[in-house]
Amino acid sequence: MPRHFLSISDISRQEFHSIIDFALAIKRNPLLAGRPLENRHFALIFEKPSTRTRVSFEVAIHQLGGHTLFLSGQELQLSRGESPEDTAAVLSRYVDGIVIRTFSHEKLISFAQASQVSVINGLSDSFHPCQALADFLTIKENRRTFSGLKIVFLGDGSSNVCNSLIMAAAYAGAHVTVACPDELSPPQAILEFAKAEKMHVELERDAERAAAGADVLYTDVWVSMGQENQSHKKKQLLEPYQLNERVQAKARKDHLVMHCLPAHKGEEITQTVFESVNSVIFDQAENRLHAQKSLLHFLYR
Ligand code: CP
Ligand code: NVA
Repeated sequence: MPRHFLSISDISRQEFHSIIDFALAIKRNPLLAGRPLENRHFALIFEKPSTRTRVSFEVAIHQLGGHTLFLSGQELQLSRGESPEDTAAVLSRYVDGIVIRTFSHEKLISFAQASQVSVINGLSDSFHPCQALADFLTIKENRRTFSGLKIVFLGDGSSNVCNSLIMAAAYAGAHVTVACPDELSPPQAILEFAKAEKMHVELERDAERAAAGADVLYTDVWVSMGQENQSHKKKQLLEPYQLNERVQAKARKDHLVMHCLPAHKGEEITQTVFESVNSVIFDQAENRLHAQKSLLHFLYR
């Protein structure tokens, strides 16, 4: 059976730490990564738009010696109703791995179950595990250790990015406080995953109170891809959770400002906070490349 990476729970706590540590090592010395993907082909299926995930995976795979085929969902028979299972079964006769960005996580699981080659989740409605690897690489290069850090996520606590952030934090041994409205709290299954890893997720309804003493302030767009029809309601609910200067003033002086991007400045984050000296947002985007090279190394070495 191939090893898939659909969620942080597909790797162990120890594997999580070794992927981050190797990512840090190859960021410093790219030659360490070698060319483990020589003569291997990868299909990159994107059913939603992407800048970072697509480009960082294409470059990562090429740098490791492999080849990529970019397949937009619209151009595949998937868009005309071919099942995810048949698509996966066929593609795995041609390629050695598949990166996929899609909507339903359940469909992604069915796709992976039918695949003979590794499937990597490039974002689903429920999870964004590759983002979480880059997030923790960014935290590690700035803080050296994760243990005891207070990470505060402000915004949609039920989003793919927040779900994966909580799960990764549980492996990292960091604390997470989610500042969000009740309706957009993290799903029970995520809180249970954290609890099983002996991590308690704090839910806070007041953004400034949540940010008190934070080491990391993290936010994401209020309206995720595919949720455009809920745009008005979500924006109303999330307005009190903007990452602005008042919230920032409550955090530790040396806190990090993080955002997975793309950002809607003036909505979930102000321009001033986005550009503040605490912002590591573009390092975080760069780290998608290093973290994914490390992940590919782990899956294919
Ligand atoms: N953060 C992230 O996944 O960005 P893209 O949507 O541009 O891939
Ligand atoms: N939560 C966002 C993340 C984008 C990278 C979305 O799903 O659109």
